[in-house]
Amino acid sequence: MKILITGGAGFIGSHVVRLFVNKYPNYEIYNLDKLTYAGNLENLKDIEEKPNYTFIHGDIVDGDFIQNLFNEHKFNGVIHLAAESHVDRSISNPMEFIQTNIVGTVNLLNAAKAIWKDNFENKLFYHISTDEVYGSLNDEGFFTEETPYSPHSPYSASKASSDHLVRAYNDTFDLPTVISNCSNNYGQNQFPEKLIPLFINNIINKKSLPVYGKGINVRDWLYVVDHATAIDVIFHKGKVGETYNIGGNNEWKNIDLIKVLCKVMDKKLGREVGESEKLITYIVDRAGHDLRYAIDSTKLQKELGWKPSLQFEEGLEKTVDWYLANTEWLNNVTSGAYKEYYLKQYSQKE
Ligand code: NAD
Ligand code: DAU
Repeated sequence: MKILITGGAGFIGSHVVRLFVNKYPNYEIYNLDKLTYAGNLENLKDIEEKPNYTFIHGDIVDGDFIQNLFNEHKFNGVIHLAAESHVDRSISNPMEFIQTNIVGTVNLLNAAKAIWKDNFENKLFYHISTDEVYGSLNDEGFFTEETPYSPHSPYSASKASSDHLVRAYNDTFDLPTVISNCSNNYGQNQFPEKLIPLFINNIINKKSLPVYGKGINVRDWLYVVDHATAIDVIFHKGKVGETYNIGGNNEWKNIDLIKVLCKVMDKKLGREVGESEKLITYIVDRAGHDLRYAIDSTKLQKELGWKPSLQFEEGLEKTVDWYLANTEWLNNVTSGAYKEYYLKQYSQKE
């Protein structure tokens, strides 16, 4: 197999690349990444010298570059993770999301279609998507694979659009595709713009913890390594044309999760019980903030035999331990442009 993984220098992508490179020494794994603010080759230091791994620096929005790359390497599998992934950034700058998430996905679909058109056998275009395409739930119910799409942010709308295009290429051109929609991931190497690593970094630095609205929104958290193993299972055993939901069956109201995180951090940092909770600051809510996400992953569990391996408390401790042991990584990604982003995103909202 010659597999192209896009966005492999990012948070989830780096875990997928590591899993595939280590588990399948006979596969050739190509990691294509633009190295935006969210892409970081430090995430892959441990595998960069492996003989079955190649990094390619490039932009999926450049259609000619993508077609040439497929012509040259004749990939027979694609696992597409490259995306602009942060909801808040999509509110302040939607166009980047339209370009990368929609145009970039179509460029990859076109390139795969062009080189595979004479023989679709043993080929697969696997598109990684999000539960946010389904919209927002109230207190009851779960997202299933049949839940109608109802995205609310420019990010989720761009992901929904790319999902529709992937299905359209399967329906119209018979391109062998599969899609998975996953809930919120957490774990090592996540960029500190997302809730858990941002709050870990702020607690370390005794900075305020900016909770949107009343902190009552609910997310279903999955350890990133469990997402990577689900992607492995779906890539190898998923049925062409199908969609699989991936979730942690692990719902947390933001404020409850934040209080647990504060307790864990106080203990690890040797601070007084309750010290970090004092940093909690309620700020203006995110525009169009979805109330609740919760995934029903029965199909994946029953048909393909996957299930999450970690309890949340264990995963959270592992995550905190990793950030505390990797302050250099954290300091590198929070210098420069991050400071500007942080000021723009959070000043005037308290
Ligand atoms: P991330 O922001 O950490 O990483 C995205 C990666 O894509 C980065 O390495 C970046 O450099 C690269 N990239 C961005 N634009 C590119 C372009 N134009 N060309 C090539 N590379 C580009 O994202 P993540 O959290 O790891 O998410 C990965 C995928 O999983 C995304 O498609 C996202 O929608 C999806 N997803 C994420 C979550 C989550 O909780 N983080 C949950 C479900 C699904
Ligand atoms: O559900 C899957 C999605 O999960 C992925 O598709 C996205 O790529 C990923 O970013 C994530 O989206 P969320 O918007 O749910 O994640 P985020 O970490 O930004 O926020 C989680 C919750 O915490 C959400 O209700 C907003 C809240 N929040 C977030 C930040 C960054 C705060 O209260 N304060 C904050 O500063």
